[in-house]
Amino acid sequence: MMKVERKCKIVSKEKMGDAIYMVLEVGDMVRTSCKGPGQFVHIKCGDGLLLRRPISVCSCQEDDPSDLLAIVFEVRGEGTQWLANRPVGHSVDVMGMLGNGFQVKPEGRYLLVGGGIGIPPMRGCAQYTMGKSTAILGGRSADKIILRDRFAEECAKVLIATDDGSLGHHGFVDALVRQELEQDKNYDAVLACGPKPMLRNVAKVAEEFGVPCQVSMEERMGCGIGACLVCACDMKDGSRKHVCKDGPVFDSKEVDWNA
Ligand SMILES: Cc1cc2nc3c(=O)[nH]c(=O)nc-3n(C[C@H](O)[C@H](O)[C@H](O)COP(=O)(O)OP(=O)(O)OC[C@H]3O[C@@H](n4cnc5c(N)ncnc54)[C@H](O)[C@@H]3O)c2cc1C
Ligand code: FES
Repeated sequence: MMKVERKCKIVSKEKMGDAIYMVLEVGDMVRTSCKGPGQFVHIKCGDGLLLRRPISVCSCQEDDPSDLLAIVFEVRGEGTQWLANRPVGHSVDVMGMLGNGFQVKPEGRYLLVGGGIGIPPMRGCAQYTMGKSTAILGGRSADKIILRDRFAEECAKVLIATDDGSLGHHGFVDALVRQELEQDKNYDAVLACGPKPMLRNVAKVAEEFGVPCQVSMEERMGCGIGACLVCACDMKDGSRKHVCKDGPVFDSKEVDWNA
């Protein structure tokens, strides 16, 4: 596969709840390697030997002279802390866009489910199906429901669930997925990104209603291009697939949820 690796300038950086919203100038990366919503970039997060860190594309656009790509991330450890500290105007080494995203049609109507830091990656799907899809956003508390104004502009409807009841439904997103699928039989598929237990529950509800479901899986990564086996994910048929190359998005029925 084509390996795109380049220095990308940070053009803006903004705090959004506990997360950081960062926009990068990525040259012709969007023009040359965008396959649709749900892909990720692999960013070198450190000056030394520290490995790259995978971060999902939140939104991207072709632009002149340079395409623009927005990411949203939380500081978890050394790598994301390094990235968070990069000042605007500095450049970072970005590989991308990588992986296979969601299989969506612009004319389709989808139920988009995002949990926590899994909310931003669903934005591409909202933009791709502008005004038609429904978003269900969940998090521990109200401040974790980031980008909800953007989803409100880009979706027909936005439903919110919080674990502590500080905003929207008091509970998990899968209860809202059930409610929505009971009321509306016209969704083409459920598309989800978030922690694995959330994905498992959402997939179960979609399956009950006979609605196709695609999930974006998270695994630790090394190379990001299918060469090191770090990111292997167990499939129901006993095979192992690479999250970086075969995913990160999989059909929920393919995944071994008990692994
Ligand atoms: C395809 C993909 C897309 C991602 N998109 C985003 C995104 O849009 N925004 C965002 O904030 N994060 C995203 N992540 C997670 C992000 O890559 C990790 O938070 C980051 O690699 C942590 O690096 P670090 O050096 O800061 O922390 P480390 O010191 O490497 O790790 C800190 C802690 O996080 C755990 N951890 C690290 N990586 C993962 C992982 N992949 N899965 C589960 N636990 C992990 C470690 O075990 C450790 O406990 C994504 C991951 C994948 C695989
Ligand atoms: S990260 Fe190396 S094979 Fe996926």
